[in-house]
Amino acid sequence: MPRHYVMCPPRYFSVDYAINPWMDPDVPVDPERALRQWTELRDTYRRLGHLVDEVEPQPGLPDMVFAANSGTVVDGRVLGAKFATRQRAAEAEHFRRWFVENGFREVTMPQETNEAEGDFTWTGHLLLAGTGFRTDPKAHAEAQEVLGVPVVSLRLVDPRYYHLDTALFVLSEAGDDRPAHIAYYPGAFSPGSRKALSRLFPDAVVADADDAACFGLNAISDGRNVVLPVEATALAEKVAAHGYEPVFVDVSELRKAGGGPKCCTMEIRK
Ligand code: ARG
Repeated sequence: MPRHYVMCPPRYFSVDYAINPWMDPDVPVDPERALRQWTELRDTYRRLGHLVDEVEPQPGLPDMVFAANSGTVVDGRVLGAKFATRQRAAEAEHFRRWFVENGFREVTMPQETNEAEGDFTWTGHLLLAGTGFRTDPKAHAEAQEVLGVPVVSLRLVDPRYYHLDTALFVLSEAGDDRPAHIAYYPGAFSPGSRKALSRLFPDAVVADADDAACFGLNAISDGRNVVLPVEATALAEKVAAHGYEPVFVDVSELRKAGGGPKCCTMEIRK
C-alpha cells in the first residue's frame, strides 16, 4: 500500500540555537550536505512507491525540515501543532495553511502544546502519545477529542529522547485481524510507561541503548520496508529477522539538529 508523506526541504537549515541535547550551535553544519541527504530520503520514499508532497520552507525557521512536528492526520482529520519552544512556534501556521490549501476540511489548531507526530504515533488502533519534554499531557486528551481515536499516554524520561518518535516506531499497523507491531527503546520511558508498553505490545522488537543512540528508532516503516539511519545496523538486523526489509539513509547532517528520517516525514492518513 503506497503511503502519503509530507516533507519540507531544508533550504534554510542550520543549528543556531539548542533546544535539545543533540544541538550545538558551535558545531558547523553543511547546509548543502543536509539538502542532499534530505533529497535522498525523499527519493527513497518515491522509489519505494510512496507519494511525497513538499511544503515550502521559510527563512528564519531552520527546524522546519522536521515536518513530523507540525501535524497529526488520522482519517483525513488534522490536528495542528503548538510548539513548546518560541524558536519553532511560527512553523505551525505554515503547515496549517498547507493543509487548508490542499483540501483538508477538518483542520483544528490546538489549545494545548503538542509537537504532533514528534509525540503522537498512530498504531492503526491507538494513538500513542508522549509527554515529559515537549507535548503537554493535556494535549493527549485534546487529541482524543479532536481526532476521535483512543489515546495512550506515555512518559519520556531521557532528554536525548525528547520526542516519542526518537524512542518508538510502528513496524506494521494494526488491522482487523492483527495487532500493531512496534519497536521501542524501554530506557527512554518511565517504569509505568514501560510496563504499559510491554502489556500492549508483548511481541515488540525491543531496541537497546546503542540502537537508540544512533537514532535508529527514528525510522519509517511502510509495513515492509523500514527506512532507518545507516548507523543503525544492529537494529536493522533485528527488524530483518522479523521479515522487514531495512533501507538505509545517511542523515548525519540533520542529526546535528536532533532529527532523523522520521522527524523529516509527516504521514497523511486519509
Ligand atoms: N531541532 C528540532 C527540535 O528540537 C528537532 C526535531 C526533531 N523532530 C522529531 N520529530 N523528533 O525541535
